[in-house]
Amino acid sequence: MPPVPTHSAPFRVAVVGAGPSGVYAAQGLVGSEESPLTAVDVLDRLPCPYGLVRYGVAPDHEKIKSLQRSLRTVLEHPRVRFLGNVGVGPGGVRARELLEMYHAVVYCVGAAKDRRLGIPGEDLRGSHSATDFVSWYSAHPDAADGDFALGARSAVVIGVGNVAVDVARVLARGVEELRPTDIPQAALESLERSTVGEVSMIGRRGPSQAKFTTKELRELGALPGVEVSVREEELALDPAYESPEGLPAAARRNVAVLRDWALRGAGGATVAGGAASGSGPGAGSGSGRVARRLGLRFFLRPVEILDDGAGAVRAVRFERTAPDGQGGVAGTGVHEEIETQLVFRSVGYLGSPLDGLPFDERSGTVPHTAGRVLREGAPCPGEYVAGWIKRGPTGVIGTNRPCAKETVGSLLADAAALLGTRGPLPGDPLEALRAAGHQPVEWPGWLGIEAAESELGRSLARSTVKIPDWDGLRAAAGLGI
Ligand SMILES: Cc1cc2nc3c(=O)[nH]c(=O)nc-3n(C[C@H](O)[C@H](O)[C@H](O)COP(=O)(O)OP(=O)(O)OC[C@H]3O[C@@H](n4cnc5c(N)ncnc54)[C@H](O)[C@@H]3O)c2cc1C
Ligand SMILES: NC(=O)c1ccc[n+]([C@@H]2O[C@H](COP(=O)([O-])OP(=O)(O)OC[C@H]3O[C@@H](n4cnc5c(N)ncnc54)[C@H](OP(=O)(O)O)[C@@H]3O)[C@@H](O)[C@H]2O)c1
Repeated sequence: MPPVPTHSAPFRVAVVGAGPSGVYAAQGLVGSEESPLTAVDVLDRLPCPYGLVRYGVAPDHEKIKSLQRSLRTVLEHPRVRFLGNVGVGPGGVRARELLEMYHAVVYCVGAAKDRRLGIPGEDLRGSHSATDFVSWYSAHPDAADGDFALGARSAVVIGVGNVAVDVARVLARGVEELRPTDIPQAALESLERSTVGEVSMIGRRGPSQAKFTTKELRELGALPGVEVSVREEELALDPAYESPEGLPAAARRNVAVLRDWALRGAGGATVAGGAASGSGPGAGSGSGRVARRLGLRFFLRPVEILDDGAGAVRAVRFERTAPDGQGGVAGTGVHEEIETQLVFRSVGYLGSPLDGLPFDERSGTVPHTAGRVLREGAPCPGEYVAGWIKRGPTGVIGTNRPCAKETVGSLLADAAALLGTRGPLPGDPLEALRAAGHQPVEWPGWLGIEAAESELGRSLARSTVKIPDWDGLRAAAGLGI
């Protein structure tokens, strides 16, 4: 199909959110040959595209980060326009205004908040959400300035999902392995000074119910200079440990890795990681970091984060749990305190309500049927959702592709009616946004940020280094500060 200037295509769609689900939705919309000729504006509150691929995927997972290259080709399609720095909601463009400017709007805003534990002590100094830590090492411009008490001796990560694995790995990794990544300079320097020597990652259920994937688990056992430990007696509390045959394949693989670690590490069940294997903790490419140990614990439910008397974390109190025979666990009344000065709660993300869209508080999602937003139980042609705000905060990047495809299918089925009712819309939304005082960052602005990040990397004798603040991003995008 020959290129058509974006705003002159007759059917106009706004996609809100330039993460994977938004980009896959845009791809489906312009890729369909059955649809009316469609132009898509992909709006994001940040001046940068790619959502959690840029601001969640850990810096040392460069291969996954490189997925940005395939997302980029969609945003460079002649009928797709990236409009960054445009938030939807109070203070930004309102949802009802978008419905005037476009025939349809697809909300792909993700689920950026952290879930709380709901236990005493959660807000003590030294207790953080994984969400905040991830945002900090990913250079999210909203991230707090990074008071992560990395002067602590030990850290406890609560939860055994893939985000917990990311957090534990970044805490344990030697900085020389992080230096070649795009991690912001301040985070790199802070991690370089870190005195955290012991990281514990703790699940409330058993090893067969852990949410992490085997590839990510194995990576922990291969970290240079890091000793990984598991306790066989704790693994064995899980009935599936002795007889894993009935487990789903992914859980069976996890149990096999943990069993292998338990058996290889006689007594203390410790496995020395990667290149440093056999040369003890702290060896390898850790460069100046203290010895690092990473322990995986199971069947411990957090009940309180304990105060050191001065408002900071001293320890976490856990209750030992036991399988209840139905996939859950029950408390045993036996407690254990794990001394620590640093706690990361990594118990999942949560969506937030958005500017008058219906919202299910329990699941943190927008109610929908096949991607059509449901208002008072009825599908609402013209408003759609995809990604984490549709399904909840689970699933890898690729999961968002079929999810967006389903939504796009619904939208395209409604397209003729939407176009028939309103006909081609007048004007260009970009001009309307500018006239309303917004400062959209278009694709050349984003390319300016990329160039500035390469330049920053060069000046620090590193490769690309992310710009971590709003002013820096805006200036690089060519906006006034
Ligand atoms: C810490 C972390 C690490 C991960 N690592 C991996 C990994 O290594 N591999 C993997 O396959 N998956 C990984 N995932 C999962 C993957 O990132 C998600 O499946 C995916 O990003 C969800 O896509 P999304 O588009 O729904 O949301 P997001 O990626 O969160 O994108 C949402 C976008 O919407 C924008 N937005 C939000 N609110 C507004 C608003 N009001 N107005 C305008 N724009 C708005 C945001 O700025 C953001 O750009 C990770 C997830 C997390 C949390
Ligand atoms: N490399 C990758 O591919 C990668 C990296 C990061 C994230 N992701 C994906 O992103 C999604 C989100 O990951 P996530 O780690 O945030 O979520 P997750 O996979 O849902 O894991 C959450 C963890 O928190 C635990 N938990 C929840 N409430 C708790 C409580 N009150 N007390 C103690 N523990 C509690 C859960 O235990 P229970 O099971 O007992 O509830 C689980 O272990 C996942 O689909 C993940 O695979 C992928």
